[in-house]
Amino acid sequence: MNENVPTNLAIDAKDLTKRYSEDVLAVDGVNLSIPANIIYALLGPNGAGKTTTISMLTTLIKPSGGSAKVTGLDVVKQADEVRHKIGVTFQEIVLDPDLTGRESLDFHGRLYNLSKSQRQAKIDELLNLVELEEAADRRTNTYSGGMKRRLELARGLMTEPEVLFLDEPTQGLDPQNRTNIWEYIRNLKEKQGMTLLLTTHYMDEAEALADRVAILDYGRIVVEGTPQELVNQMGAEVFLISGEGNQDEFINRVQALSFVKEAISSNGMIQISVGSGASRLIEIIKTAQETSFNVEDVSVSKPSLGDVFLKHTGRQLRDK
Ligand SMILES: Nc1ncnc2c1ncn2[C@@H]1O[C@H](COP(=O)(O)OP(=O)(O)O)[C@@H](O)[C@H]1O
Ligand SMILES: [Mg+2]
Repeated sequence: MNENVPTNLAIDAKDLTKRYSEDVLAVDGVNLSIPANIIYALLGPNGAGKTTTISMLTTLIKPSGGSAKVTGLDVVKQADEVRHKIGVTFQEIVLDPDLTGRESLDFHGRLYNLSKSQRQAKIDELLNLVELEEAADRRTNTYSGGMKRRLELARGLMTEPEVLFLDEPTQGLDPQNRTNIWEYIRNLKEKQGMTLLLTTHYMDEAEALADRVAILDYGRIVVEGTPQELVNQMGAEVFLISGEGNQDEFINRVQALSFVKEAISSNGMIQISVGSGASRLIEIIKTAQETSFNVEDVSVSKPSLGDVFLKHTGRQLRDK
């Protein structure tokens, strides 16, 4: 493809790389082609390189290699222009505890040279959006975790961004607050036409929100697609089996069963994906009985992005 042909991609990263030191290659050649007006999730465990990727895309740190464009603008050569097109909220909340919610938003608007009337209008609109009107004139150190997150979200929206970056937007929130934030995020896409790139280590968050997801591990994208596509690769059901005995023999025998899509071992557990809808557990147990493997515990589930992660990395993506 000709590099000079303009694209409509909201985010276009090629071979994006960040090396912090000789030992730490945090982002290792990430490619992203994210069209406008979708919710895109970078899903991965702690240390996968999610925050570092977002930091490069939002011009906060410079890549060590590769390139990236946001709304067609180069994040290194046109960093100032990029900053005016985007909003960003970070994982670590950086609210000034001595300011009220309203003052925090106002301060942010001043940083971006919004006029007083622009700020006032925007602040009222956003406080309404994230339902913080009543708490607006209280200092943020009286806010709950969920309120702080909502204020952070409002702050990221002060500048009417085309692309909003959200680093772990629901980290540490209770389920009620999480689903609220999800609702705001969906609204930003649907009602305001925004493009959203969020990072998360919660697989259910990626499944619930994202139009497309990239699973990141050790700084690399291991697999990318719509959540449905990724989950469909796993078959109809996934069994997680623990037990004692010769795992390899059991896995080999199970793999030979026609309805088994995949059987792998990880952290002492055996993950078996089966293709057909009907549960095939009895046949799997029977197969174990023919070997020297004793099944002790079985869980059956519909495949999730966690199973996709396990399949591609051989490790569990802990939902914590
Ligand atoms: N400023 C930094 N200096 C050195 N190493 C860093 C720095 N920030 C992050 N890292 C390392 O880079 C890797 C990726 O980190 P990060 O991007 O924060 O991952 P994630 O957000 O997915 O948890 C980790 O090994 C982390 O320890
Ligand atoms: Mg992070």
